[in-house]
Amino acid sequence: MSRARILGLICLTSSRLEVAEWHTERSRTRPGGDDVDRTHEAAEAQAARWKGSGADAWVAAQGYLDAMYRPFADLLVQAAAAHPGRVLDVGCGTGASTVAVARELGADADCVGVDISETMVGAARDRARREGSSARFVNADAATHAFESAAYDLVVSRFGVMFFGDPARAFGNLRRAAAGGARLRFVVWRGMAENPFMTTAERAAAPLVPSLPVRKDGDPGQFGLADPARTEQLLLEGGWTGVGIRPVDAVCTLPETELDSYFSRFGVLGPVLPGLPEPTRARVVETVRAAFEPYVHGDEVRYTAACWVVDARAAEDAPGR
Ligand SMILES: C[S@@+](CC[C@H](N)C(=O)[O-])C[C@H]1O[C@@H](n2cnc3c(N)ncnc32)[C@H](O)[C@@H]1O
Repeated sequence: MSRARILGLICLTSSRLEVAEWHTERSRTRPGGDDVDRTHEAAEAQAARWKGSGADAWVAAQGYLDAMYRPFADLLVQAAAAHPGRVLDVGCGTGASTVAVARELGADADCVGVDISETMVGAARDRARREGSSARFVNADAATHAFESAAYDLVVSRFGVMFFGDPARAFGNLRRAAAGGARLRFVVWRGMAENPFMTTAERAAAPLVPSLPVRKDGDPGQFGLADPARTEQLLLEGGWTGVGIRPVDAVCTLPETELDSYFSRFGVLGPVLPGLPEPTRARVVETVRAAFEPYVHGDEVRYTAACWVVDARAAEDAPGR
């Protein structure tokens, strides 16, 4: 792995995971629907963002994001090498991992990326054309899309499955798209506390922007699947089995020249920043930039991304709910 050190740590098996509280179908049975309403509102906000400015930001930053998150695409490529077959890449974005997997599988590759954002899918198709890849792309909500059943032997995702309002149902939908015994591999973020780089901007800006949204682990969004016990339970509910979850730390880098554009576009600050009155906006940028200083090493910004690699198998006899 060229630009990053991947440190595989502990493998958490199903039996050792404790089941935590989660905002899914079970929450519906609890008296009062506040958690359910909040989760669905958050999921709708995420979908709206990906269909709008979130996708624009991602496409504009595609060059350095490709390099920054390359270690995690490599993990999906490894799964494809171990389990070649028909591949579905969920929340494929601009198609970096879909195209990488298709490249690994060679001339016979049958790889499809699905994404809720038309902009992302457009950029993914452009990428596939540019790189002469056979990868194909579908613009749809992976949680509810009527995929052909049993059409995939491997379902993968790099940071594309944390946004669902009802994750168990969404994983059930992906289970139906998968053939019996098909493999699942995805990468998601561990919690906010373990990813301080990712929350630097909002922590620094909060005193200056009291209206800044406060996010927490488990909400649909970047840290939506931070709790491995909950993730395992959601997968089991969705008809997946043999769940294995292990932490992976990767050192990620981006050019120092892109740092301002990075924190101005992404996270919770990105959408809020353009609407701030000018004197405040400039102060926020200055304050946030200073907060990132510990991560700046010459012309490079460097941080550790703390993630989970999740593996599972489509249960032969449980078609997902
Ligand atoms: C953090 S980006 C990751 C993109 C890509 N996998 C990558 O690593 O470059 C998350 C992607 O998931 C997509 N997404 C979010 N919710 C989705 C859903 N319900 N169905 C399909 N795609 C979704 C977004 O549009 C976005 O492209």
